This record gives sequence, C-alpha cells and structure tokens, in this order.
Amino acid sequence: MMGNWMDFRSDTVTWPTEAMRQAMAAALVGDDVYGDDPTVLELENSAAEMLGKEAALFVASGTMGNQLAIMAQTRPSDEIILSDRCHIVWHEAGAAALLSSVQLRCLPVENGKMSLRQIEATIRKTPEDIHSPTTRLICLENADSDGTVLDLAYMQAVRELATRYQIPVHLDGARLFNAATALGIQASELAREADTVMFCLSKGLCAPVGSILAGPRHVIDLARRKRKILGGGMRQAGVLAAAGLLALREMTRRLDEDHQNARYLAQRLANLGASWFKIEGTPQINMVFFRLDQYPRSAENLVSELKKRHILVNGADEGVFRLVCHYWITVEDIDHLLEMLTELAG
Ligand SMILES: Cc1ncc(COP(=O)(O)O)c(C=O)c1O
Repeated sequence: MMGNWMDFRSDTVTWPTEAMRQAMAAALVGDDVYGDDPTVLELENSAAEMLGKEAALFVASGTMGNQLAIMAQTRPSDEIILSDRCHIVWHEAGAAALLSSVQLRCLPVENGKMSLRQIEATIRKTPEDIHSPTTRLICLENADSDGTVLDLAYMQAVRELATRYQIPVHLDGARLFNAATALGIQASELAREADTVMFCLSKGLCAPVGSILAGPRHVIDLARRKRKILGGGMRQAGVLAAAGLLALREMTRRLDEDHQNARYLAQRLANLGASWFKIEGTPQINMVFFRLDQYPRSAENLVSELKKRHILVNGADEGVFRLVCHYWITVEDIDHLLEMLTELAG
C-alpha cells in the first residue's frame, strides 16, 4: 500500500523507503561532473564490484543506460542484433536511430529467446564488402519486460557465439536482480556473459531515480563523455546515489518475496470464481499476466471500478493484463484485490 493506494501497474511506481529518505537527507555530496561526489563514487564502485565489471556509471534512467551502451559501442550505420519485442525497440522512442544512427536487426523470440542459429545467420560476415553494414553489438534483455527470465546456459551460448565474431554483448538488465533471484544465482554470473550491463535502481529496488551502466573501463569512460553530451552530467547526485546504495545493498536481497507474492496472486486468480481469469504462464519474477475469461465485466470497466476502490492496474494490452508485485504490495493487499474482484463480479 502506498498512501491509501495499491498500485499494481509496475514496479517503477515504487516509492523510496523511509531508510532511503533518511539516507538521501544525510548524503555526503560533491560535484559529480568534477568527479568528486563521494556517494556517487561509492555507488559506482560498489555496483562495478557487485557485477564483476571494471567500472560503472550512474545514469538518470534505464533508457539512458541502454542508449549510452549503444552510443559507446557503435558507429553510425552499424547494426545491432536484438529481439523484436525488447525495450530498446519498443519503448525508447527510436533513440538508437536518433542518437547512434544504427540499424536495428530485430529477431523473433520464442520463450524470450532469439534462436542462436538466427543470430549467427544475421551477423554480417563480410565487413570488407562496401555494401555491408557491420554488426557491432548484440543486445539481450534479462528479465524481459514480459517477465521472462533467460537461463545462464542461453546467455553463455550467445556470448560464446558473439565472441567468435568479436562482437560485444550488451545486457538490458533493468530487472537483472529479479532474473538472478529467479535463477538462484548471483547477478555477477549473468553480468559475466555480457560486456556491458545496465540495471535499474528505480524499479523493484525502490530507489526514486537512476540506473547503472557497468562494463570495461574504456567503454564506461566513453559513456561518461556521451552522458555529458546528453545533458546527463548531474551535480550533487549523491542525494540520489544514497538511495541507490540501499537499493543495491539491501533491496536486491528481498526480491524473492515479490516473486512469491506474484505466484500467490497467480494461483489465487486462477482459482477465483468460475474460470473468471486465464493465467498466462507461471510467474518467473514479480509479474502476473492474465486474460479475462468468463469475468462478467469488460477490461475497461474493471480498470475504472478498481480505480474507484483505490487499486491501480493498467489496461489490458491485446487482451492481456499485467499485475506487478513489489515492495509496497503485501499479501494482505493481494487478498484485498481478490476480494474486490469477487465483489465486482457481483
Ligand atoms: C526491460 C527494460 N529496459 C529498460 C527500461 C527503461 O528504464 P527507464 O524507465 O528507467 O528508462 C525498462 C523500463 O521499464 C525496462 O522494462
């Protein structure tokens, strides 16, 4: 519960915790553009260490982190191979075309995975041919925005293939720690299979603002310069980094609670009423997907009636609803939602 609202729309809605607010108020700060904000430095060093990377950069958003990874690792007219349903393609407003002038080679996915055979077939093999763009980057997303987790063996296989062609891999790990939690491994094990990794502090980890881009020092140095170009050089950013440190050190440890809540919600929804809801798959992270089956209300009506009861859910996307569990959603909140769904069914 956030205030007197239950917000199931996303984990991006999470407010900072009380501990974060206190840490922000007490944060030691400097001027991060001069490179002397101690709290930002601590966050960047801690994140790099935790992921097993040489360096890390604190950025304003996940989108900025992804775009800096592309800007720092490609040149205009290069190609990137990535999934046709990933965030970079769908939700970053065409930024890769604008900022990096790259061509996106989007491949279909099955269970979140592009086929290795198709990735290999898509890699340009004749860079000396003046007609041919150069494949300069492969992007993966784990977990993806549909809540699918890529297993470590798949990540290793993509990395191995990319290395054979000397192509770096970028991992959009907006929910990297959710993926690692679901797999029961350390985030660094997933990070090892990519050259650069972006993860968000501001989603299930509850920080109010910010993401991290981590990778080899020369790439991060270049990304820092590109961040300045985008106007992303922040000054007393330690105020934000202080919340980020708690996100990194404490909130990464509790994500299984959200995953368990998501499974509980999915199970209860599946058993509610006479086949009112059809659950899509089993939640792998903190997200539950479902369709209305025999529920006696329309999708639009359900969203507006829930809102009147101070419960926020997004409208259905092609008939599919997504509910997201996070720090501010408790088992009691889920039970309350289920009660309201039962009441609304009349
Ligand atoms: C998979 C994925 N990547 C990147 C982002 C971008 O993060 P931000 O909203 O901080 O730009 C999101 C945001 O939801 C996401 O789900």
